[in-house]
Amino acid sequence: MTGVSLSARLEGRVIFLTGAASGIGAAIARRCVAEGAAVICADLNGAAVEALADELGAQGLGVTCDVTEAASVEAAVAAGLARFGRLDGLVHNAAAPSPDGSVLDLTAAQWASEIGVNLTGAFLTCKSAFPAMIAAGGGSAVMIASQFAQVATAKSVAYCAAKAGLVHLAKAMAVDHAADGIRVNSLSPGAVATSRLLQRWPDLAAADEGLGPDYLLGRIGQPDEIAAAAAFLLSPDASFVTGTDLLADGGYAVR
Ligand SMILES: NC(=O)c1ccc[n+]([C@@H]2O[C@H](COP(=O)([O-])OP(=O)(O)OC[C@H]3O[C@@H](n4cnc5c(N)ncnc54)[C@H](O)[C@@H]3O)[C@@H](O)[C@H]2O)c1
Repeated sequence: MTGVSLSARLEGRVIFLTGAASGIGAAIARRCVAEGAAVICADLNGAAVEALADELGAQGLGVTCDVTEAASVEAAVAAGLARFGRLDGLVHNAAAPSPDGSVLDLTAAQWASEIGVNLTGAFLTCKSAFPAMIAAGGGSAVMIASQFAQVATAKSVAYCAAKAGLVHLAKAMAVDHAADGIRVNSLSPGAVATSRLLQRWPDLAAADEGLGPDYLLGRIGQPDEIAAAAAFLLSPDASFVTGTDLLADGGYAVR
């Protein structure tokens, strides 16, 4: 976001964002507010999301929320509506640390947990938020997936399957809700410098050095680069874009 002159293309819009407390989610929250939106920042990590909302000021609301629990998501959406009075967009970005493993390695509980946060979380978020978006005359929904929705990687069966499911869920919802004025897309990042990478790498410099050569651009991405793509999909600039997957992966999946 630094050095870029931002427009006010999200002025007056209210966006519900899951997994807002850190990494890509926090970058999306900051970008949306910088472009004029109000953001309901929902996350399991209540303290971190409150701190982010404090930073965002009047255009931010922090809500503790577990996207795997229907009542929790409904309460978070209701809190957002009570504060801002409308809803024009949502981003489902929440993800828990993913279990490494093949189908033989993972337990059924690990599988269910990964599907729960990524995929069921998206279902519950859209189910709770869409009625208010329809009441507002429509809006834009963005599912944060992964390049591993398009191409597979080793020992990540649950993550690959959950993210591929998210991409197709976006398409199916785009079909159902076009007539409501809701555009639904997925956004698939390649590796991005967040604490998520520290599951497998000692630090972000090591992650960049190790993973960078797999990317056409020779490096991993930054959270702000994904936030810029999310802001585009949320904005009127993407008014003719629905039911698609936007790869923001530095060219990882092209070969
Ligand atoms: N960082 C990457 O390399 C990368 C690459 C491709 C896709 N992604 C995707 O981008 C998204 C954000 O990833 P990140 O790297 O910023 O990770 P992150 O761990 O920094 O952020 C994820 C957030 O989700 C929250 N969360 C976890 N479980 C939750 C739940 N049940 N309910 C509500 N919130 C919950 C966490 O508290 C955290 O704040 C994820 O969907 C991830 O799969 C990340």
